[in-house]
Amino acid sequence: MSVIEIMKTRRTIKAFGPRPIEEQDLQAWLTAASFAPNHRMNEPWELLVVGPETRAKLNHKTDFGHAPVVLAVLSKPAPTAFERDENVMAVSCFVQNLLLAAHEAGAGVYWASLGALPHNRAILGVQEGYDVIGVLGIGYPEDVPAARARTPIDSKLTYLA
Ligand SMILES: Cc1cc2nc3c(=O)[nH]c(=O)nc-3n(C[C@H](O)[C@H](O)[C@H](O)COP(=O)(O)O)c2cc1C
Repeated sequence: MSVIEIMKTRRTIKAFGPRPIEEQDLQAWLTAASFAPNHRMNEPWELLVVGPETRAKLNHKTDFGHAPVVLAVLSKPAPTAFERDENVMAVSCFVQNLLLAAHEAGAGVYWASLGALPHNRAILGVQEGYDVIGVLGIGYPEDVPAARARTPIDSKLTYLA
């Protein structure tokens, strides 16, 4: 697939089959993701590999679609609000890279935002100043939902003089 096909055909996956994710594949996707743009090369992403006890405590409504792997993706603290925002932006790029790398390999990701809630931050042991960008279920899809149409991009463009 071309990069454009990969971007257009990626879907949020909410139901995974039992096939495990090989450690070397996960490492390869995460390594690819780490080539995301990041200001001053500060590489502000940190990852928590969520084990079964912690996962049960998160009590997600579908247990992340029964994904074989669950990762929490954190964005590092920064001395100013501006730099903290930059970190969040860079980590979002990291996550998108990961989504696309997994999709190219036939896998998929469920991006859930519940990790940002205070009680879930506590369950994950997230230190003050960190942002939780997402809790990601990763696996091989059992079901791939149809793409929902996007707004024509023309309507999002403003031309400045
Ligand atoms: C920051 C962020 C948080 C999200 N959180 C959730 C979530 O908590 N639960 C959920 O079902 N989907 C979540 N999603 C996935 C979106 O619902 C999904 O991307 C959107 O419906 C478009 O579908 P697609 O990814 O298949 O194109 C999140 C996506 C992003 C970027």
